[in-house]
Amino acid sequence: MVAPSILSADFARLADEAAAVEGADWLHVDVMDGHFVPNLTIGLPVVTSLRNATAVPLDCHLMIDAPDKWAIGYAEAGAHNVTVHAEAAADPIMLAKDLHAAGALAGLSIKPGTPLEPWIEVLAQYDTLLIMSVEPGFGGQSFIFDVLDKVRTARRLVDTGHLKLLVEIDGGINGDTIEAAAEAGVDCFVAGSSVYGADDPARAVAALRSRAATVSPHLRR
Ligand code: DX5
Ligand code: ZN
Repeated sequence: MVAPSILSADFARLADEAAAVEGADWLHVDVMDGHFVPNLTIGLPVVTSLRNATAVPLDCHLMIDAPDKWAIGYAEAGAHNVTVHAEAAADPIMLAKDLHAAGALAGLSIKPGTPLEPWIEVLAQYDTLLIMSVEPGFGGQSFIFDVLDKVRTARRLVDTGHLKLLVEIDGGINGDTIEAAAEAGVDCFVAGSSVYGADDPARAVAALRSRAATVSPHLRR
């Protein structure tokens, strides 16, 4: 799966930018509060409008403090998947249950420096695990290859039936890095600058998807 990140899109033309990647699996929406990360982007009103402007399922990535308080609103606004940060959530187990009750999938994200092991039990409640491959806050950064160890561990936990979730990666995904991530076992690739920086975003999505597909399925057999 490929999820273009609208962080790299033109914010004055969000409906058009969403339409430009109509064939994408999910549309990744980066919500930043200027506290959890040193950047401020968009919030609930924009997500609500976007929800009505595109049929592509919204994958909301909340880089915010106090997600226990705010995440539910995004589920109620119709986000398909709502991802909160493990580093910020007070009660991630309850939060996942609340998100499900509001009709969304629940995602848990970990920053590059956050280990996976302490979160494995909590992840039993989650549908997606978003492994950050850059420090959250900005698009256009370089892929941190070290996080692929966490991807491999997560892949193993899923393939052996210990967890049931999608492994998602976010940050620095492009034609040069996607194969390594696919090989490590990623299911869903978030890509901002490599999609919206391309002349034809839809073609960039298709190219990333086929590039990942050449690697991952055969390794998983
Ligand atoms: C970074 C965001 C990413 C960002 C990725 O904090 O979570 O979703 O948009 O952008 P690229 O693909 O340019 O690294
Ligand atoms: Zn993101």
